[in-house]
Amino acid sequence: MAILVTGGAGYIGSHTVVQLQNAGYEVVVLDNLVNSSEKSLQRVEKITGKKVPFYKADILDREALEVIFSKESVDAVIHFAGLKAVGESVAKPWEYYNNNIAGTLVLTDVMRRHGVKNIIFSSSATVYGDPAFVPITEECPKGQCTNPYGWTKSMLEQILSDMQKADPEWNVVLLRYFNPIGAHKSGTIGENPNGIPNNLMPYITQVAVGKLKELGVFGNDYDTHDGTGVRDYIHVVDLADGHVKALRKIEEKAGLCVYNLGTGTGYSVLDIVKNFEEANGVAIPYVIKDRRPGDIAVCYADASKAKKELSWEAQYGIRDMCEDSWRWQSGNPNGYED
Ligand code: NAD
Ligand code: UFG
Repeated sequence: MAILVTGGAGYIGSHTVVQLQNAGYEVVVLDNLVNSSEKSLQRVEKITGKKVPFYKADILDREALEVIFSKESVDAVIHFAGLKAVGESVAKPWEYYNNNIAGTLVLTDVMRRHGVKNIIFSSSATVYGDPAFVPITEECPKGQCTNPYGWTKSMLEQILSDMQKADPEWNVVLLRYFNPIGAHKSGTIGENPNGIPNNLMPYITQVAVGKLKELGVFGNDYDTHDGTGVRDYIHVVDLADGHVKALRKIEEKAGLCVYNLGTGTGYSVLDIVKNFEEANGVAIPYVIKDRRPGDIAVCYADASKAKKELSWEAQYGIRDMCEDSWRWQSGNPNGYED
């Protein structure tokens, strides 16, 4: 029986394929490569020494999905495939709702037709909006999202939850990721954003490697210890391990479950700059800019539910995250392009 990983060539997906194969799972990857390269999977094969069966396919393509589910004996789906650029989602809402929501509706319809009713879904801390309290527990009310990307996550949580309630044969695990950074220790797979990065760590690593001049720090007047925004950064390998643990929960008949995947510790933008500089001996010049619209001041998890129910807990600290992000970026200045 295989685990189908949609979006498995991407940043979190490729790391999760490594952890799944290392844990002994048979894996099949589906990705349309809209935001990734097949080379990531070749590198995964080098890390694990195992083949990664790959289908270049779109989750909106019902016929392609029918072929995959007919040929492969799929037991569960880990569903990463989706568009994730916040700013782009504001400019192209239809494309985001179509890709992420319609795509998931097609995927889950094909799944149920083939009797596959186990899914782990990549959600996000963004569903909490400006959180009602921190640290954020899973009981924290979902909030107003500030962009269509965030709404796709919030709506898909609702859709998958309603499907599970209507048909309890479904096992649905919603994983709300906090801020994934870092890379596999080998330095051969990592985050590979198109164009100028939107997110903090890839921006920092591109400044460090000389591709960008300086970091813009979006606001230093938040109500935080140094005025800059605080987030819960989590090592992508820890995040990947969370999916392996969630799969075990599915094997025990999860029903509907939701978990935060974070470390429980918040770091400010300037904390990250300092840790990166100290960990790697590279200076990161920065300038203070205006706040970025839609940003919140503070966001960090209470991750105790995942610890209790999944026996999962983040293992890596901020130094590892900074070192591993830099090992990947410095060894692959152009990502997967040679
Ligand atoms: P990513 O862009 O690296 O990976 C997503 C993958 O999905 C890409 O390989 C892309 O080619 C593929 N894809 C997109 N649309 C597709 C489609 N219609 N059919 C088939 N494949 C398609 O992003 P990531 O950072 O690895 O994120 C994985 C998932 O986790 C996404 O759903 C994302 O929204 C979610 N998430 C990410 C973060 C983050 O900060 N990275 C935070 C919370 C949630
Ligand atoms: N930041 C800067 N300069 C930059 C980039 C970011 O100062 O060039 C700051 C932001 O203002 C924020 C912090 O760094 O305070 C983190 O910003 P990111 O863009 O890296 O991450 P966000 O917390 O804004 O959002 C990310 C993903 C979302 C996801 C959310 C929660 O982009 O998709 O984490 O999982 F929903």
